[in-house]
Amino acid sequence: MRLQKYLSQCGVASRRKCEEIIRAGRVAVDGVVVTEMGVRVEEGARVLVDGKPALREAEKRYILYHKPMGEVSTVSDPEGRATVLSRFRDFPVRLYPVGRLDYDTEGLLLLTNDGELTQNLLHPSREVDKVYLVRVRGDVEAEALRGLREGVPLDDGRKTARAGVRVTRRTGDEAVLLVTIHEGRNRQVRRMFDAVGYTVLMLRRVRFGPLALGSLQRGQWRELTEEEVRKVKSL
Ligand code: URA
Repeated sequence: MRLQKYLSQCGVASRRKCEEIIRAGRVAVDGVVVTEMGVRVEEGARVLVDGKPALREAEKRYILYHKPMGEVSTVSDPEGRATVLSRFRDFPVRLYPVGRLDYDTEGLLLLTNDGELTQNLLHPSREVDKVYLVRVRGDVEAEALRGLREGVPLDDGRKTARAGVRVTRRTGDEAVLLVTIHEGRNRQVRRMFDAVGYTVLMLRRVRFGPLALGSLQRGQWRELTEEEVRKVKSL
């Protein structure tokens, strides 16, 4: 089996990400660092990623994490900031985030070593609903709400798809909304509010498909229940 397929079956990351990991010189097969694609892994070969064994039979784990602000959603950060995996250094398997939340966004992030599921969930055709709790400055007016719901052109000129938008609280100075989107464009929610003239003060993801953040506090995590795993896999 080819190395990139082997690594993705071990839950290291998606196939494409595994290619980047190989190219970066992070993978050794039987003691030799491999940087080219297409190398075959023979039965019984010892494969290390960043010095840790990549085992095909690794048990699949699914973690629902409440990412706090101030962590990056990448596996490592060149600036040395905390990542969403910093708390999982001693976890028995190597976890990867399913998608991203911005450094300054908090909320539900799924972490897993199931590369196949990750790839599946992140595919644009999957259209997984994501719900965000958004606190903004000002009193969001009807015209802005209509724009957010029907789609607004972002700063790159490309219009967003229809979104679910519900105002849950207004104080005059601030408003709190629940926004449901299924696209996953970079900083999408912040850019949607920018496009209609409002500044986001706080952004928290509270749902990802069938998964809900519930009462999990910032920085806390739990394993998915069997029922949740089943639902996520059937998306
Ligand atoms: N939209 C954003 O603006 N940021 C996120 O982290 C997620 C969605």
